[in-house]
Amino acid sequence: MNKAKKLWKKLKNKDENIRLMKWMIHVVKPYFRFVIYVFLISLVSMGISYASTIIGKYVVDDATTGVIDFRNMAFMCGTTIVSILISIFSNIISSYINEKFSFSIRQKLFNDIQRSVWIKISKYHSGDLVTRLTSDIGGLADGLISILPSTILIFFQLLISFGILLYYDWQIAVFALFLGPIGAAFMLFFRKKYKEYQTKFRESESEYRSFMQEVLSELTVVKTFRQEGANEEVMEGLKKKRLGLVIRNSRLSSIMSAVMRLIYSTGYVVAFCWGAYRISKGDITYGTLTVFISLVGQVQGSVSGLANIVPRIYSMLISAKRISDVTEIQKEIYTGKTELPKKVGLVVNDVSFAYADELIVKDLNFSVNPGEKIGIVGPSGTGKTTIIRMLLALTAPQKGDIRYVLDSAGEETACPDSRRFISYVPQGNTLKTGTIADNLRVGKADATEDEMWHALRMASAEKFMKKQTDGLETELSEKSGGLSEGQAQRIAIARALIGEKPVLILDEATSALDEDTESVVLKNITENSDLITCFIITHRRSMLRYCDKVIELDDDGYMTINTLSQYNQKK
Ligand SMILES: Nc1ncnc2c1ncn2[C@@H]1O[C@H](COP(=O)(O)OP(=O)(O)OP(=O)(O)O)[C@@H](O)[C@H]1O
Ligand SMILES: [Mg+2]
Repeated sequence: MNKAKKLWKKLKNKDENIRLMKWMIHVVKPYFRFVIYVFLISLVSMGISYASTIIGKYVVDDATTGVIDFRNMAFMCGTTIVSILISIFSNIISSYINEKFSFSIRQKLFNDIQRSVWIKISKYHSGDLVTRLTSDIGGLADGLISILPSTILIFFQLLISFGILLYYDWQIAVFALFLGPIGAAFMLFFRKKYKEYQTKFRESESEYRSFMQEVLSELTVVKTFRQEGANEEVMEGLKKKRLGLVIRNSRLSSIMSAVMRLIYSTGYVVAFCWGAYRISKGDITYGTLTVFISLVGQVQGSVSGLANIVPRIYSMLISAKRISDVTEIQKEIYTGKTELPKKVGLVVNDVSFAYADELIVKDLNFSVNPGEKIGIVGPSGTGKTTIIRMLLALTAPQKGDIRYVLDSAGEETACPDSRRFISYVPQGNTLKTGTIADNLRVGKADATEDEMWHALRMASAEKFMKKQTDGLETELSEKSGGLSEGQAQRIAIARALIGEKPVLILDEATSALDEDTESVVLKNITENSDLITCFIITHRRSMLRYCDKVIELDDDGYMTINTLSQYNQKK
């Protein structure tokens, strides 16, 4: 079953709809006051135009008897001007509320994404998440802030118009009453298709954004593998798919609008003819006929607007679903621990872990004394990074437990708070756009220049940094643009060292360095650092000489731990 169908199936589910409604009410609650304001303003404006319509009747009726009532005429002019002023005011307020609402939801979603449990959120493509943060939030804000109130307003309008018609001519009112359900039934008939199209529409947006984002961030791969043509084809395909959706969508909307207009025009013609007939019989006045015509004019816009509102409501529901799905992902829980231990040991007790069904690591058992340097080796794909993710509490083991032994406060099971005493150099390129100093401040927000240079020296980055004309203020573009891979790695190491945390994790952090530089960096890190417990993942055996113990992972997910000399003897 494809994604659109799955989502659509979920939307049909009653409990799911109730949950979605509750979520939307919860989201809009803080802004409800403002929405009510806009609604009331529109209501007042509507009231004024109805008053103007009715006064118009008396102007016409007076005129047919040869009387000109200037007071009523002036009142009509006045109400028109007031209506215009009110609509300006209400437009300004609603766009302000719309932006305030959408940006707040965006902020909340952004925070939620940042704080979601890594293993769950990492399943989403960043392009998809960006679509949810932009278009979906736009759709939701449009729905909650503008469409719902204006839909309610339209119903009010229809109701009042019906009341007025009923007052002046019950027969025509009853006729109008039949037209309403016909229109509604018609819309219900197309409901299913609308929902389906809207879901697909959103998904196609996520799809092309993710695709473009990925291509644009890896242009060298595109060029060197000569992928331009293939990518253009993919874009062409995405365009076709999207255009197909747009055509189907707008075909449906147009049919809907046309039928609504047909129903409406029938009403108009019938009302007009009926009015003429009644005048000929002397049952109603010219003034009453002008009321009919004017009422018809007033609901005209609303009724055809109603046809457009339906797809927008579905779009809102789909967006709400896509946003709430992400906001409801389990969050990491920080308990707010702040004390920084000076020395940290580790006990890993009977730990096994699987991303899905298959266990990646099995029965890990080892302990590390504070200040020890642990090498972690093993063929690619055996679970080295996975172990690190568990140490960082990015993911939790399915079995067993991981406890840090703190000098200050006994033991602490690995949890998001544990990251306060861990520095980490991830595999791959992880610097951010901005200056080198900005990057170093990620490791320590209030780092001084001296501290920065010290960290750079430790990471063997001082020499090339001295050559940069802008020094610490050297700007990096996306993905460390402007630095070599090995230079970027050393900045990433300096970023980790600057915080002087008692635990340091290097995940192939020196893989892009020449052996001599790597050796200097590891020597700097491990020498005279009795307080720092290090985990060094490496594929280079010679680098293990800086370690006290070596953990070896095998292809079956099991581990052995040896002292360095035992390990060397074995090899
Ligand atoms: N996010 C993930 N979801 C599902 N499976 C994953 C995920 N990350 C890693 N794996 C799988 O877990 C296994 C171990 O991956 P891991 O990254 O821990 O290996 P590694 O020992 O660090 O390898 P390398 O030396 O190549 O970095 C691999 O088979 C990989 O396919
Ligand atoms: Mg790895």
